[in-house]
Amino acid sequence: MPKKVKISVIGIGLMGLQHIKAIQRSKNASLHSIVEIKKTGNELAKKFKVPLYKNIKILLESDKPDAVVVATPNVLHETDTVQFLNSKIPVLLEKPISDNIKSAKKIISSANKNKTSLLIGYHRRHNSIVNKVKKIIEGKKLGRIVSANILCWLYKHKNYFNEKWRISDGGGPLGINLVHDIDMICFLLGPVKYVQAFKSNSIRKYKVEDTASVNLFFKSGALCTLNISDTIASPWSYELTAGENPAYPITDQSSYFIGGTKGSVQFPNLKYWYYQKERSWWNRIHNNKINVQKSNETLINQIDHFSKVVKKKEKPKVTGNDGLNSLIIFDAINKSSKSGKKIKIK
Ligand SMILES: NC(=O)c1ccc[n+]([C@@H]2O[C@H](COP(=O)([O-])OP(=O)(O)OC[C@H]3O[C@@H](n4cnc5c(N)ncnc54)[C@H](O)[C@@H]3O)[C@@H](O)[C@H]2O)c1
Repeated sequence: MPKKVKISVIGIGLMGLQHIKAIQRSKNASLHSIVEIKKTGNELAKKFKVPLYKNIKILLESDKPDAVVVATPNVLHETDTVQFLNSKIPVLLEKPISDNIKSAKKIISSANKNKTSLLIGYHRRHNSIVNKVKKIIEGKKLGRIVSANILCWLYKHKNYFNEKWRISDGGGPLGINLVHDIDMICFLLGPVKYVQAFKSNSIRKYKVEDTASVNLFFKSGALCTLNISDTIASPWSYELTAGENPAYPITDQSSYFIGGTKGSVQFPNLKYWYYQKERSWWNRIHNNKINVQKSNETLINQIDHFSKVVKKKEKPKVTGNDGLNSLIIFDAINKSSKSGKKIKIK
């Protein structure tokens, strides 16, 4: 395989365009072609100076790419991805893995059957701060993890809701924003045993939620509360604190708080809190700012990692099973908020 991995991007909407930019900025990848059904595909192919294919079948019959990024709508993820996996072409598949659990399982079994790599696009996992926090937790610096508190409070402009799908089921902040937080906290704290959730639409009054509160009970015994809203004027969300996307002006705050018996961390403004003397609320609690070589261009990092996966130099950091796991928890959140019951994750 040549030095640069030749990648075709499938579905050039909001996210497909971001992937093209990331490929162009990556030292390890180059843009092979695009697949887009809309007329806009012609202009984009000219702009990026690559061939345009009207569908996946035509792409597969022509000069095949080394790998693909699938960034089509969720309902198409299974059909689109399986075609590539059956042709032994590795796939970076946008999150969520699919719009339903049955279809997600089919994607995973196709990757296994074809022995072809599948990477799910939870790009936050490619941020150096997140990986530092994982090391802190694994190194037992916090002692036993007791609980975590995650805030995802945003204020979305009213024009955002002009798109009808954003005010229909699945278009709310749980499906758009919180799925990333679910993936991340499972990456950091491990498997979940129970889920309980409340949803509310009392401010915006659309059919879909504007606010939700989710409780997770991890198999380790740790607890976690995730609190999300798209109608709170606040600086506390991963989006506004991590600086991964220049579209969101960054605040110097944190949105993740993870607490253990020996200490706590907050991030993305990464600080470690601990007692120098005996642990007691009567003693002063100290904090150290932890400096990490900042690497928050996570879409580029993700493409670099994917290129190494394609060359079999690395294993996917976010597997199909990780994608399925966050989909199962998302499904449980919806079930619990409707029934009021605690849902067991099998
Ligand atoms: N990782 C993230 O932070 C993030 C953010 C936004 C969206 N996403 C995900 O990215 C995916 C795409 O979302 P989006 O917001 O870019 O949607 P979008 O509607 O802006 O873009 C989808 C594109 O796919 C094209 N398309 C549809 N069917 C096609 C087909 N059969 N072949 C080729 N092209 C086809 C559409 O014409 C459109 O241009 C979704 O899975 C979404 O959940 C991820």
